[in-house]
Amino acid sequence: MTSQSGSLNGKLLGKYQVLERIGLGGMAEVYRGRHERLDRDVAIKVLHPALNNDPEFLARFEREARLVATLRHPNIVQMYDFDIQGDQVFMVMEYIAGGTLKQRLEELKSSGQFMPLPEIAGFLKQMSAALDYAHSQKMLHRDLKPANILLDATGNVFLTDFGIAHMLGGTKLTTTGSLLGTPAYMSPEQCRGESLTLSSDLYSLTVILFEMITGEVPFDADTPLALLQKQIFDPPPPLEFYRKDILAGVSKVLQQALSKKAEDRYPSAIKLSLAFAEAVQSSSGATPANPHKLAQANRSAILPKPNNSGLFPIKWALAAAILLVIVMVIGWGILRVARKSAVATKTGMPIPAVTVEAIATETEINPSMSSTRRPPAIQLCITPQECQTIFNKLMESKRYVLAAEALSRAVSNVPVDQQPRWAQLKCDQGDVYAQLENKVDAKSAYKECITWTHNEPQLQSIRDYAQQKIKDLK
Ligand SMILES: Nc1ncnc2c1ncn2[C@@H]1O[C@H](COP(=O)(O)OP(=O)(O)OP(=O)(O)O)[C@@H](O)[C@H]1O
Ligand SMILES: [Mg+2]
Repeated sequence: MTSQSGSLNGKLLGKYQVLERIGLGGMAEVYRGRHERLDRDVAIKVLHPALNNDPEFLARFEREARLVATLRHPNIVQMYDFDIQGDQVFMVMEYIAGGTLKQRLEELKSSGQFMPLPEIAGFLKQMSAALDYAHSQKMLHRDLKPANILLDATGNVFLTDFGIAHMLGGTKLTTTGSLLGTPAYMSPEQCRGESLTLSSDLYSLTVILFEMITGEVPFDADTPLALLQKQIFDPPPPLEFYRKDILAGVSKVLQQALSKKAEDRYPSAIKLSLAFAEAVQSSSGATPANPHKLAQANRSAILPKPNNSGLFPIKWALAAAILLVIVMVIGWGILRVARKSAVATKTGMPIPAVTVEAIATETEINPSMSSTRRPPAIQLCITPQECQTIFNKLMESKRYVLAAEALSRAVSNVPVDQQPRWAQLKCDQGDVYAQLENKVDAKSAYKECITWTHNEPQLQSIRDYAQQKIKDLK
């Protein structure tokens, strides 16, 4: 099997022409490929060849892949196909050309910036809709982390690798010996090796939220054992230690969502997302001069001491943790070597940030500019995608009036048969009007948001969100 060197390039896998390797994870290589007849780019995930020797795995792969392929949601990477061809086990998915949230967070960190809170709220809303939908289909993700969240050029977020951990999960080990799940994002119950519930996914989602806000995961340690212990016993550090512009309300939401006991967390992702969005609305926007330095200094100075008065006897937890750590240490070692040799090709088109910034600045300098003389990109955005990109950028910089204008254009260009795909935009419009304290328009936008879902069952969480907002506006 040669795929470890990326040499599937140029070959045919089923109906798909393999074009280039775009990523390498712990148990698979990912290629960009093409379905020539459909003229469509796809991502092809070829699982590690060592997995193919296990007939139990192959049976489970087929079963789980079939389930994953039934998931249909605008914020979940669509699985198109899966197959076993000779010694290649592969899945064919929607190709998303904007890189991962992990890459985005790394870029922000290296330039000493924080992700703007409205952008975080937007990402969270999309991730929550996807997660609640999957949960409603009785499907857990089990390995939520920024590397499994893909972004496109217009601010859309897509969860990927749903259920992959389950496919591989009979023994809780991948063939490289690594523990399934990623310790920094694992819930306390997952660290204890207990069976998972939807609340475990919500915990992982909250760790991602924490990282989007602060640039750091709540728990970090030099060894897997120390990290497991922290997930199980330590209270999460308050956000205020990292960002001075965070209000207590936002911090409180995160504290609740990272509760050690599953029953103390939010009952659904959308409830978490709503609570977060509400807390952000009352948050101000001052950013510390050198946030990451400040974060580090604060962390070592004031991090709370571990609280060992946990949920069950410490001896029990330690025994479980030590067992887990043995396999993890081996796995991490192998994984590290594998990852060092990985060629992580950056994918995707950059968001045209310069253009949008220029427009926003120009308009800000001259706020009295009449709408007919608005800067060209707002006038000229034609597709909903283009207008949405501009909207996202303007929201980030809190230029709500302009954002509302870009969004009006976006929603006015959506044909009726595509309304479900863009229903979220209508809710975004409600959010921006609410932000501008225009309750009447906000309410009617939320109502239209509900209508635009065309009653599609997988868009239930969007309807719940809009209904909740209408209620709040009363
Ligand atoms: N549908 C997709 N479209 C575009 N790029 C993708 C897609 N799926 C995966 N990738 C790219 O391939 C890379 C590797 O993905 P993969 O899921 O194998 O590993 P990972 O999530 O980084 O780690 P792990 O092995 O722990 O799951 C991703 O980081 C991403 O850059
Ligand atoms: Mg992945």
